[in-house]
Amino acid sequence: MRPEDFKIGIPDPSGARAARRPALIFSCYRNRKESDHAARAARHHMGASATPRSVIQVSRIRKTYGATVAVSEVSFDVSEGEVFGLIGPNGAGKTTTMECVEGVRRPDGGEISILGLDPFRDVYQVQNRIGVQLQQAQLQKRIKVWEAVDLWASLYPKPMDGNRLLEQLGLADKRNALFMTLSGGQKQRLFIALALINDPEVVFLDELTTGLDPQSRRAIWDLVRGIRDRGKTVVLTTHLMEEAERLCDRVAIIERGKIIDIGGPEELVSRHCPTRAVVLATEDALAEERLRAIPRVETVMRRGSEFTIQGQGDDFVTEVIQCLSENRIRITYFRTVLPNLEDVFLKLTGHSIRD
Ligand SMILES: Nc1ncnc2c1ncn2[C@@H]1O[C@H](COP(=O)(O)OP(=O)(O)OP(=O)(O)O)[C@@H](O)[C@H]1O
Ligand SMILES: [Mg+2]
Repeated sequence: MRPEDFKIGIPDPSGARAARRPALIFSCYRNRKESDHAARAARHHMGASATPRSVIQVSRIRKTYGATVAVSEVSFDVSEGEVFGLIGPNGAGKTTTMECVEGVRRPDGGEISILGLDPFRDVYQVQNRIGVQLQQAQLQKRIKVWEAVDLWASLYPKPMDGNRLLEQLGLADKRNALFMTLSGGQKQRLFIALALINDPEVVFLDELTTGLDPQSRRAIWDLVRGIRDRGKTVVLTTHLMEEAERLCDRVAIIERGKIIDIGGPEELVSRHCPTRAVVLATEDALAEERLRAIPRVETVMRRGSEFTIQGQGDDFVTEVIQCLSENRIRITYFRTVLPNLEDVFLKLTGHSIRD
């Protein structure tokens, strides 16, 4: 690793706080990176202006590494206040896409506008108005939580109150803890705190809950909802479909560098997987005939006393319940099987996201 790989906070030399910075070198890196990574990831401070309605416009970006096409003809827009997710399997091109938008990687072709600015030409303004949590971030082992927050705050002219941020993120009692003693979830929260220290208009979160237990994951989800509720725009990547469903207003499904479809999670489910199912158990001899008579029923499968009834439409489950009630069919078991983003992914790509 080259020395520059260890730096992320590249100061604006004209800034009043610049004198404090040279000694502040810490490690925050991705394993794969480009030579200009450190400079691009620097957070700079310039004045903020009104946020436009559409905060990110990406048009036909492309990025290759030798023979590997990491991103190909990717286009999407993100609106103010939206939680937008890039979802796809390992190596799909999520991080590359996100880092192009952040100005960390330069695409080979295509156009990117963020907050009405060019992430490369206007790098200082952009870095000042966005917050970034990188996929594989590290800090010095022995840096204390408050020191890290103080360090990041020193990079901006009007940072948020670090103590308040730590409180909001449930890290107040870890203020004096060394980075290396934090749990995975606490480290993630700290990285979110650092991404928020400049009160950014757009926050980028790359795989923020990977490797966390379900409880920590839920706590982080609540934090992201809190960020959105404060009017911020959030762009996140995940390969967890549940995370995308719970957090994202819209998602772009990306595979092998290409976007396959974009939409709200429910919109994508009804577009690609409109069929839903009810599984129930009954000993009623007339049940099969009655269930088959329900409008919009596609199939009724029977295994012993268990029936699986498939049909389409938002009212399908209600219609099954009505049928059971009207015909006084006594059931001993009932569950619905509703399609989700995982099913959409399977349908669109022919394989599960985890394959
Ligand atoms: N610096 C690099 N040099 C060479 N190849 C790279 C580099 N960065 C990414 N790639 C390749 O580009 C493709 C997309 O990688 P990227 O990191 O964007 O995927 P991802 O969707 O974020 O994956 P993950 O879910 O594993 O984080 C992969 O094939 C990867 O090996
Ligand atoms: Mg990634």
